[in-house]
Amino acid sequence: MVKILLNGALGRMGKMITDAADNVSCSVSAGVDVRAGSAEPRDDLFRSLSEVDRDFDVIVDFSRPEGLDDLLAFAVSRSKPVVLCTTGYTDEEISRIHEAAGKIAVFRSGNMSLGVNVLCHLVKAAAKKLGVNYDIEIIERHHNQKKDAPSGTAIMLRDAAIAGRGEELHEVDGRGGRDCKRDKYEIGMHAVRGGTVVGIHEVGFYGDSEVVTLTHTAESRGVFAAGAISAAKFIADKPAGMYDMDDLLAE
Ligand SMILES: NC(=O)c1ccc[n+]([C@@H]2O[C@H](COP(=O)([O-])OP(=O)(O)OC[C@H]3O[C@@H](n4cnc5c(N)ncnc54)[C@H](O)[C@@H]3O)[C@@H](O)[C@H]2O)c1
Repeated sequence: MVKILLNGALGRMGKMITDAADNVSCSVSAGVDVRAGSAEPRDDLFRSLSEVDRDFDVIVDFSRPEGLDDLLAFAVSRSKPVVLCTTGYTDEEISRIHEAAGKIAVFRSGNMSLGVNVLCHLVKAAAKKLGVNYDIEIIERHHNQKKDAPSGTAIMLRDAAIAGRGEELHEVDGRGGRDCKRDKYEIGMHAVRGGTVVGIHEVGFYGDSEVVTLTHTAESRGVFAAGAISAAKFIADKPAGMYDMDDLLAE
């Protein structure tokens, strides 16, 4: 039984993890959330990591990038692995994550679903085959409460497309104005926000008289919760280092 410390426990994903964990030989032994004071008091819910007095094997984080430094310092001080599912990190924050992975095991993925992981491989292969004459544009759609844009998944798909093309492409986030004619080395990223959409990602390859589109639709947050719990079990006994969905699926 893997015991999870859940950071961001009162959020949409935190609640999904709490509901899903018990059915898959995991348990959430404690939750942490900055909103803990405003929720009904529970003896397993804490307002900060430093208050946690429960035993746990692995930290699963679905919170906000602002808490990253405290989270990494806490995980390193307790020598515990961490599954980072939060998105929206800056390049500097990603460097600090890699630094911490010199001391503890860190699993990070902007999307914990199997489907998106497969989509990344398909996008890489399509970008390689189709080449420079196909313009690549990514459209992502999410609910109206999402804070970061582009989404972590759109960034994964962008990186897969660039790796497939094998050359530098510069990201253009949306377009507007009178001088935005596309060049061959752009990769367009477009964020749609509305309603309750869990997540739709479409990568389009626009060629001369044909368009290829690859799409993933998340119909429930359950797919992310299941992936995060699998990652927690996978990383619980791993040595220090960076891990991602490819490592999990390879095992
Ligand atoms: N990797 C994936 O597969 C995946 C899937 C879904 C969401 N996400 C990402 O996970 C994050 C959370 O998503 P959500 O929809 O649950 O958001 P949410 O806003 O519903 O929940 C976030 C929770 O974190 C809490 N929080 C904020 N700062 C905190 C801190 N410093 N310490 C502890 N708790 C803190 C908030 O109070 C809130 O309850 C977002 O970055 C989202 O993009 C990733």
